[in-house]
Amino acid sequence: MRHGTLRQLEVFEAIVRYGSYTRAAEELFLTQPTVSMQIKKLTDAVGLPLFEQIGKKIYLTDAGKELHEMNQDIFKRFERFEMIAADMKGMKTGKLRLAVVTTAKYFVPRLLGMFCRQYPGIEISLKVSNRAHILERLANNQDDLYVLGQPPKEIDVIAETFLENQLVALASVGHPLANERGITPKRIVKEPFLSRESGSGTRIATERFFSERGLKLKIRMELGSNEAIKQAVIGGLGLSILSHHTLALDAPTGQLVVLDVEGLPINRYWHYAYPAGKQLSIVAQVFLEYLQRASQLLVDVSCHYADVGHCPLLPCSNKKARIKAGCRT
Ligand code: PGA
Repeated sequence: MRHGTLRQLEVFEAIVRYGSYTRAAEELFLTQPTVSMQIKKLTDAVGLPLFEQIGKKIYLTDAGKELHEMNQDIFKRFERFEMIAADMKGMKTGKLRLAVVTTAKYFVPRLLGMFCRQYPGIEISLKVSNRAHILERLANNQDDLYVLGQPPKEIDVIAETFLENQLVALASVGHPLANERGITPKRIVKEPFLSRESGSGTRIATERFFSERGLKLKIRMELGSNEAIKQAVIGGLGLSILSHHTLALDAPTGQLVVLDVEGLPINRYWHYAYPAGKQLSIVAQVFLEYLQRASQLLVDVSCHYADVGHCPLLPCSNKKARIKAGCRT
């Protein structure tokens, strides 16, 4: 086995990831015969087959599965070493794998924009999915860091808040409730409601808000996207409750109204999280420090950005900061 080279392990890893020799060859800029040759040499070194082909699909054998597990360990360690070495040279380079819940896509990319300008050597991969799927990834330790509305109780994680997240009730501008003040939650549940899919953090928080008041929403439609919900609200299909962040791009169109409902907004916070016991990469640590400064940015910098239309944290819910900086949003 010791005769297996790192290159062979790299080829093996790419085949497992893509489930295909051809795609692995493309990624590594190798020809397919070279890929087959490398795997043959690795198989000879191990003395057992690593893959089996059934129909057009390739599967790992038991030996292949064991090798894959060890391989992941080896490459993580290499990556970590490369980052440490880069750090010693005074450079921040490496890869940051982020996974965030659907609604966080309204501000995380903008935060990343500022981060990338500060650290151009850091490569980022961003996965966006709903809470249920993000929790699954977290449990399997598939990424460096996670951003979600509420840390899970069922998984042991380190989690910290870094930004406000207010959930507000939305209606179309022409809705009869649009100009009312002090609307009761009881009145809201009489209206058809457009809800996020089950497994969504927004949905869990919204249902909790009404069930705490002994009320049940009249769900007319379930949609897996904030954007689709906003369009349906604008189209007059019903009301909804979504994060204020989802309004960032709509502010100028004015087709949606935030309703004045007793007990709303639901005040939540965005959390970053990672599995307890996980050793964070240097790049992930740098990003965390940056995120922790983000709440400070909300007060010190966002209004400056709002002025030039590039606020990374819009919509800023910090009214005092907005007034202080004369923010026009
Ligand atoms: P969601 O999560 O996008 O899955 O609704 C948001 C949240 O947890 O607040």
